[in-house]
Amino acid sequence: MDLLAKIEETKNRFHDELRAAGSPEVIDQLRNRYLTGKDSLLRGLFGQLGKVPADQKGPVGQALNAFKGWVEEEIARTRGALHAPKDPTDDPTLPAKLPPLGRRHPVTRTMDEIVAVFARLGFDVATGPEIESERNNFEALNIPLDHPSRDAVDTFYLEEPWLLRSHTSPVQVRTMLRDKPPIRVVVPGRVYRPDKADASHLPGFHQVEGLMVGEDVTFAHLKGMLLLFAEAMFGPGTKVRFRPSYFPFTEPSAEVDVSCILCGGKGCPACKGSGWMEILGSGMVHPNVFRAVGIDPERYTGFAFGLGVERIAMLRHGVTDIRYFLENHFRFLDQF
Ligand code: PHE
Repeated sequence: MDLLAKIEETKNRFHDELRAAGSPEVIDQLRNRYLTGKDSLLRGLFGQLGKVPADQKGPVGQALNAFKGWVEEEIARTRGALHAPKDPTDDPTLPAKLPPLGRRHPVTRTMDEIVAVFARLGFDVATGPEIESERNNFEALNIPLDHPSRDAVDTFYLEEPWLLRSHTSPVQVRTMLRDKPPIRVVVPGRVYRPDKADASHLPGFHQVEGLMVGEDVTFAHLKGMLLLFAEAMFGPGTKVRFRPSYFPFTEPSAEVDVSCILCGGKGCPACKGSGWMEILGSGMVHPNVFRAVGIDPERYTGFAFGLGVERIAMLRHGVTDIRYFLENHFRFLDQF
């Protein structure tokens, strides 16, 4: 039998004996007999290396060294296993425990859902940068210099002419500069305002903007779309209510309420007894906005709306403090 075969055979024998070894003492004896003892099997094998033809000395020597390393490893592993305390409840036939799985954040999920509803209504998804120009965030949206939202206490200004967008409406401008009507887009994204964080404010939050422009888009389309949205989002039978309002970039403008998603309109603490919850701002695109982007306001009309994602997630899930969304406590996040 050649030396390589002998090594292999010794290896198998060692393996069987080690498997049968039940105590540290027996393992020590094995180590002695195979590796470290004066007459160890390893020494015996090395002793026979002299008789191996010169051209095979290299490989056989390597096999012997590998054998030595392998025996040491096996002994260390078996020793470790002997020391590990046996858990009487450890049943190796049980299915493996899954590692904790991640999932999307409740705000992301709400935002994706909102976008999905409008995608079914034929809206494309558009996005824009969080660092915007004053022109796109204000000027092109017909927001005059003396408007309060342009004040430094209401907008994060960067180096001229840049700022952190205070709403997703600048993507209306970007979209209309890029595309010709008909246009139907929704714009999910993060926006920034220098508000002190409290139960209902964060200096960064999410909005979804909507914009539809065409040859005869009317306020009725806005109402119809938002009613479909409210029912898809909050359940069939949800009612919508339009209250006159003001935004520089829409005329007429309306704030939109939905019938309270908790009490159905009867009045409860969540809707402060009114039966309604405010969810978004909207209106017909102001002619000056069309002029700013080179769309003829005599020919085209459109509607736009903007909603706060955190607010909708809070209403739906009964979350009472917006800051929970950022604290990353599993006790909070695991509920979604
Ligand atoms: N941009 C407005 C805001 O952030 C919301 C809005 C968008 C209102 C589009 C009307 C039309 O409050």
